[in-house]
Amino acid sequence: MNSLVTDAQKAGKRVGMSADSILIRGGKPLQGRIELRGAKNLATKAMVAALLADTPSALKDVPNISDVGVVTGMLEAYGVSVTETAPGELLLDPTNVEKAHFAQIDALAGSSRIPILFCGPLLHRLGEALIPDLGGCRIGDRPIDFHMDALRAFGAIVDKSYEGIRLTAPNGLKGALIDLPYPSVGATEQVLLTAVLAEGVTELKNAAIEPEIMDLIAILQKMGAIISVEPNRVIFIEGVEKLHGYNHRALFDRNEAASWASAALATHGDVFVGGAKQQELMTFLNIFRKAGGAFDIHEDGIRFYRGEKLKPVVVETDVHPGFMTDWQQPLVIALTQAEGVSVVHETVYENRFGFTDALIEMGADIVVHKDGLESITRRVPRRPLEQAAVITGPTKLHGADVRVPDLRGGFSYLIAALTAEGESNISNVGIISRGYEHFIDKLRSLGADFDYAG
Ligand code: EPZ
Repeated sequence: MNSLVTDAQKAGKRVGMSADSILIRGGKPLQGRIELRGAKNLATKAMVAALLADTPSALKDVPNISDVGVVTGMLEAYGVSVTETAPGELLLDPTNVEKAHFAQIDALAGSSRIPILFCGPLLHRLGEALIPDLGGCRIGDRPIDFHMDALRAFGAIVDKSYEGIRLTAPNGLKGALIDLPYPSVGATEQVLLTAVLAEGVTELKNAAIEPEIMDLIAILQKMGAIISVEPNRVIFIEGVEKLHGYNHRALFDRNEAASWASAALATHGDVFVGGAKQQELMTFLNIFRKAGGAFDIHEDGIRFYRGEKLKPVVVETDVHPGFMTDWQQPLVIALTQAEGVSVVHETVYENRFGFTDALIEMGADIVVHKDGLESITRRVPRRPLEQAAVITGPTKLHGADVRVPDLRGGFSYLIAALTAEGESNISNVGIISRGYEHFIDKLRSLGADFDYAG
């Protein structure tokens, strides 16, 4: 077992039970350069896709984060050998796939949602899949009804058991017409990972088209799949007999890029994010500029800094190519320092403003409206779960003791503490390592003033 896997698994063990805390002394602008690796929301799915092949796959730019540790543990439980061949490079060998002990899967899965994506590949490889009950998380209930309906459409039989969900496919899996009620990223990945080896053609309507989805489609095509992406969120998948291993470099993590950019904006800093690319960040860059930020696009990354004084903005989270829901929490801190009233309309998750309580404690002026607002530029029909936060600035932030509630909320607390006057003690920071590789080292390299007990 190699360092990447063990580190990530150790970090994984810390998730949720962590007493890890960091003491930050705020007021110092972040200055310097950090490097990104591959996207958490692609690398983990690419690792699952390796299960579909009959030969090994090589994945490059795999981030050293705990979600990778969780997927590595699950793949090994199903007999896949996972080897780190170089820093951030994994060789995934699925030639000896076998049934796993459920207790092992249950223990590994923990609070991760990735296990749900093992369904299609396991049904194809083993004729059965057993998935532990996936809890929701702080940002929302996160139901899996779209996933189950899609798998049933392929011919899978879904049984709820006391252990979790047992799926079988006595008559194999056949191509189907699937029309998603909402362009869900996870459900789209579920359909892709199932349809590629299903008999016949699958037509997927109202599909998610996030860059991570496109990168997963590129990987599946490298493996031998036949997938065509049509306009209007329609994807056709022609099932094939078998797939072989891939060789792929994961797409960069645009959520991490947007997070460090938001940190540069709030702290009046100047941060070069190595590996960030413009194409996948267009909508973020527009809002970043409107909020008073400036950026320079380079071959090897993007420089983010403050262009002028911070300005209020109106942001509506949406499916791609809209403003990503994972970008709003880190950006909110800069908006608390802008001259005027900003509005953040959350349309993807029903509880993604829970993190604002601690910011209000630190001196921010934020009011959360539970009913959301009338639509601005909406790509999907309005849903009852929407909420809106009205942020009035500038208000001085002061240090406080806060506890990390979720991944992106955790990163926004780092930014708030770096922006605030005085000291902040942030506990449960282990959660941040679920999606931000080496964030402590990166903070140190950007000149942040802190003590870390972990
Ligand atoms: C992925 O989650 C990402 N996670 C999320 O990033 C991201 O916020 C989200 O896509 C949207 O872009 C990973 O890739 C691991 P969805 P996913 O299915 O696939 C509802 C982060 O911080 N829904 O597109 O779970 C759901 O409740 C994370 O990195 C159903 O109702 O998102 C939500 O309201 C957070 N039934 C909406 O759709 C279903 O069966 C979007 O969910 C599935 C989803």
